[in-house]
Amino acid sequence: MPEAAARSPGRQLRVGIAGLGVASSQVLPAFGKDKPYVLAGGADNRAEARAVFAKTYNRPVFASVAELCARDDVDAVWISTPNTLHAEHAICAARNGKHVICEKPMAVNLRQCDRMIAAAAKHGVQFLQGHSKIYQAPIKAMREVVASGRIGRVIQISAFNSNDWLQRPRLAPELDTNLGGGLVYRQGPHLVDIVRFIGGGMIESVRGVTGRADPHFDTEGHFNALLQFEGGAAASLSFNGYGYFDAAELTWDLGESGFVQSEGRQFAQRERLTGPADIQQKAAVAQQRTPAARPQSARRQPFFGLTVVACERGMIRQSPDGIYLYTEDGREEIPCSKGHGREFELLELRDALAQGRGVFPDGSWGKATLEVCLAIMASSKDGRARRMRHQVPAP
Ligand SMILES: NC(=O)c1ccc[n+]([C@@H]2O[C@H](COP(=O)([O-])OP(=O)(O)OC[C@H]3O[C@@H](n4cnc5c(N)ncnc54)[C@H](O)[C@@H]3O)[C@@H](O)[C@H]2O)c1
Repeated sequence: MPEAAARSPGRQLRVGIAGLGVASSQVLPAFGKDKPYVLAGGADNRAEARAVFAKTYNRPVFASVAELCARDDVDAVWISTPNTLHAEHAICAARNGKHVICEKPMAVNLRQCDRMIAAAAKHGVQFLQGHSKIYQAPIKAMREVVASGRIGRVIQISAFNSNDWLQRPRLAPELDTNLGGGLVYRQGPHLVDIVRFIGGGMIESVRGVTGRADPHFDTEGHFNALLQFEGGAAASLSFNGYGYFDAAELTWDLGESGFVQSEGRQFAQRERLTGPADIQQKAAVAQQRTPAARPQSARRQPFFGLTVVACERGMIRQSPDGIYLYTEDGREEIPCSKGHGREFELLELRDALAQGRGVFPDGSWGKATLEVCLAIMASSKDGRARRMRHQVPAP
């Protein structure tokens, strides 16, 4: 466990946000009254983003991530800058003695991951690989059933998603695979995290097929992958981001927010995008997509597509309020606690510091997930499977 974790006080965790774009708008609602963490400030190199942040949150805001990281009243920095900058900004935070929560993907290559992990270790701070679907209660519950051995060992995991990822306004770098753009870099970590977590983490080999079927966008818009775990279990992943069909139609109209949505019916009514957007267009559409305030009582469980787990003596999938367990005795529903958004990451870091333990998922988990995503793209180029070398087990 990093040295700073043991030193850290039991008071509120003071968190700064580096990068005040669309991702930050999903993180910021997690801050509220009576939480064990508090918003300490922000940083963005765009004056407009800084002005909005200062007006909305009345917290210090800086033009560079380095200035935010240098603050004495910041304990941790949530990195939500573009993928190519995660390494630079995470290392800057670590050097300043700040714990790190990093958006997915952890980085754009494994060398960057190694440098981020080394910086956190050297400076005695925690590195939490954030924005992971494995924090969602039903995914944790599936893992618990598997780990309990109640229905035997895992034999197959199927993970399917279909959404409009490529039909939401994107900046040019987000559509450039060389800069960490495209569907595999950006959404792959979610499916890979889910199946690695449920299946125990240790992927042995990866065969992937990716595609660029939208002629207007020269980056991955779909992928399929076959992942084989140590011990023989297999996971098949399928993701389509062209915006013709919303997988929420298969999951009681529940998507990532956990509220009933009508997105699926809207996909077809929108004018299709044919090129990159600017940051104003992107932010405006992201704001429109933010679900209107709804009572928490209307919240069910969040879904990231369909996840179906087959074990030797039964199967598991998500239900609207938890998980369904199918055995020879029939179907049983196991309800799960509710909770949402990015509060899980903040609580995990806060609790790990208070308890003097390491976080999960950490940098080595994030690196292992990126290794699989990179292998999906590499395997697609030459049709050969890739053997994994950096996998770590799920706890
Ligand atoms: N778009 C989404 O829905 C979404 C959701 C969750 C996570 N993410 C992840 O969050 C990260 C950011 O994605 P995004 O969609 O919010 O991008 P974005 O472009 O909307 O936001 C990035 C922000 O970082 C700022 N920035 C760029 N360079 C900077 C620098 N050198 N110093 C300080 N600020 C800088 C930009 O001005 C911008 O406001 C990515 O890693 C992405 O994978 C995105």
